[in-house]
Amino acid sequence: MGKNRIETNSEEQTKLLAEKIATLLKPGDVLTLEGDLGAGKTTFTKGIATGLGISRTLSSPTFTIVKEYEGTIPLYHMDVYRLEGSDEDIGFDEYFHGNGIAVVEWAQFIEDYLPLERLNITINYLDEESRVIEFEPIGDHFEKVVKEITG
Ligand SMILES: Nc1ncnc2c1ncn2[C@@H]1O[C@H](COP(=O)(O)OP(=O)(O)O)[C@@H](O)[C@H]1O
Ligand SMILES: [Mg+2]
Repeated sequence: MGKNRIETNSEEQTKLLAEKIATLLKPGDVLTLEGDLGAGKTTFTKGIATGLGISRTLSSPTFTIVKEYEGTIPLYHMDVYRLEGSDEDIGFDEYFHGNGIAVVEWAQFIEDYLPLERLNITINYLDEESRVIEFEPIGDHFEKVVKEITG
């Protein structure tokens, strides 16, 4: 595996990795998730939720775009798949410059609204139980976060 990539071999491993990342995050942080349907974006977000001490079950927000959860830091779980090709601003500022952590599935569809400093995560399918998770940190804070988890 290259420097900023981690292979996971089960849903549980992906969740644990995300859980570890969550403990390194701070209010206002933005994580983007790209990857095909079934890659593991929602699974990864579940791990983030656990790491933030959220006990409520996290479900896919496909029909609501944003779901908010109360944790040690609030979590804004966004799935912007339905915004493909639209330039509608659903109040992104509140989510990206607020007191919570925003995790955005299909972030490529709202590229123009994303803050510059963020952690881009791409999940690639290897086989039924294996994924390669690639990190692209933008900014000092996220570079530190990625260093912590990739060693
Ligand atoms: N290593 C892995 N990491 C994440 N998910 C995995 C892994 N192996 C198998 N899976 C399965 O892949 C599916 C991922 O679904 P989901 O997280 O909803 O994807 P997405 O949100 O990207 O569409 C789940 O059924 C999960 O159990
Ligand atoms: Mg999903």
